[in-house]
Amino acid sequence: MAAKMLLVVATLIALVASLSHVHAFDPSPLQDFCVADPTSKVRVNGVACKGPAAVVPEDFFFAGVDKPGGTESKRYGFTAKAVPIPGLNTLGASHARVDVPRGAVFPPHIHPRASETAVVLEGSVYFGFVSSYPDNKLFAKVLRKGDVFAVPQGLVHFLYNNGTAPAALYATLSSQNPGLVLLADALFAGALPDDLLAKTLLTDDATIEKIRAKFRPS
Ligand SMILES: *[C@@H]1O[C@H](CO)[C@@H](O)[C@H](O)[C@H]1NC(C)=O
Repeated sequence: MAAKMLLVVATLIALVASLSHVHAFDPSPLQDFCVADPTSKVRVNGVACKGPAAVVPEDFFFAGVDKPGGTESKRYGFTAKAVPIPGLNTLGASHARVDVPRGAVFPPHIHPRASETAVVLEGSVYFGFVSSYPDNKLFAKVLRKGDVFAVPQGLVHFLYNNGTAPAALYATLSSQNPGLVLLADALFAGALPDDLLAKTLLTDDATIEKIRAKFRPS
């Protein structure tokens, strides 16, 4: 009887989990396009649309991904440049150019709401992801110019330029708002107590304090 009850509960949990998974993607568009109008004060799920008559080819265009730029991470050395195409609003996609100098990393991180596909524009990188618990299996490859690698939604992934030249990648993500969780920052740059971290990483408070010191804003 108890076993039967357990089965019913397990089935219900599985059903709810699979139903919520259906909604774990950006909503489907209801029109050809909804070019972002950043000046609008209207609050919608995304950015309000420009009037279709005012839409021009430039709304779907961006020049300059052949050159580095954007925001540099002082901590890790990579640079990321978002590709702001207003015509992508509501289409469940975002793009970025990422530059990783020789010896630098884009450290282990998660995009909670997106899968990612990246093509190497220049150089070579060691690129991979780790499957979820309990397997924690590493899927990684050394990629060279012209190579493409895909990362499933929500999995920990990384880039490491252990090659001999600067590397550049063009990444497409399957959400307008993929989110970014840098694992080391989430653990050490936030307010988690030292003793909790020591127990989590199977080490002592002094080791945590030593690591944490490097994550404090300077
Ligand atoms: C980069 O690291 C990967 C994984 O350890 C290794 O297979 C590859 O040979 C390394 N590349 C260089 C240039 O050392």
